[in-house]
Amino acid sequence: MSPVTPIQDFPDRSWADDGPTRAVEGIVESGAVLRFPHLGFAIMEGELRFLNPRWADGKAKNISLRWTPNAAVPEMRGATGAALALVALQAMITRYAEQSEAFALRLFPHYRGHLRRGNTSFRPVDVAGRETSWRKDDTRLHVDAFPSNPMHGTRLLRVFCNVNPSGRPREWRVGEPFEAHAQRYLPGIKRPLPGSAWLLERTGITKRRRTEYDHVMLQLHDRAKADAAFQKSSPQARVDFAPGTTWVVFSDQVLHAAMGGQHMLEQTFYLDAAHQQRPEASPRGTLERLLGRELR
Ligand SMILES: [Fe+2]
Repeated sequence: MSPVTPIQDFPDRSWADDGPTRAVEGIVESGAVLRFPHLGFAIMEGELRFLNPRWADGKAKNISLRWTPNAAVPEMRGATGAALALVALQAMITRYAEQSEAFALRLFPHYRGHLRRGNTSFRPVDVAGRETSWRKDDTRLHVDAFPSNPMHGTRLLRVFCNVNPSGRPREWRVGEPFEAHAQRYLPGIKRPLPGSAWLLERTGITKRRRTEYDHVMLQLHDRAKADAAFQKSSPQARVDFAPGTTWVVFSDQVLHAAMGGQHMLEQTFYLDAAHQQRPEASPRGTLERLLGRELR
């Protein structure tokens, strides 16, 4: 296996259902980054004003659309500005959600009917300017896992696009493959304390029960971020995503760190691992194989 996450380039130029790339489920499920250097998101002239951090309200690091089932329109969070301008901003982010969904369905026909649209986020704030705790510091290599939001094994498939207007790349580091990463930290991860999942849910710290799978994923996230030697010396590679580039990853599997850049759009999709082409290639499948038991 490759010592670092592979990046695979594709020539697509269209978000719509008429491009050449299909059936790449096996590649993304193996933990690669799919990169589309010729697939940019068109910012309309009246939208260029939104490429400015002043639209972020300063509380959240992103402006996000939350799609709730049965709601006519999504809820936008994290934005501040005049009401009419915010309507236009919401329309821009909505267009990204729709285009990335059409694109994901074309790329991954096997997932059709099973991908669920999660939040759409617009990030006009410079990565370098964010002040944050070590646990929230996304300039450290990590797999995505959230303290308050246990995923129960549901996959996080993310479509990113760099919309920087002045030529700045989105700078990432990618790290070792998931299996090597799990092997690095699994021996030190203890089982959760009896009753702790119940208590976390009861006190509202978690939105739902934190299963042992979620516990292990969060431990991987935290241990990697807290481990200075790992951050500095583990197998890794710098990857630049130029403006006009789109990339797609399972972010709960690919070790990644955002080192620099400004102005990005991102769409999250949820996929139950059972609907993968190879469910056994999921983080849960890998962890259970390494541990020799199920994670409940
Ligand atoms: Fe992340």
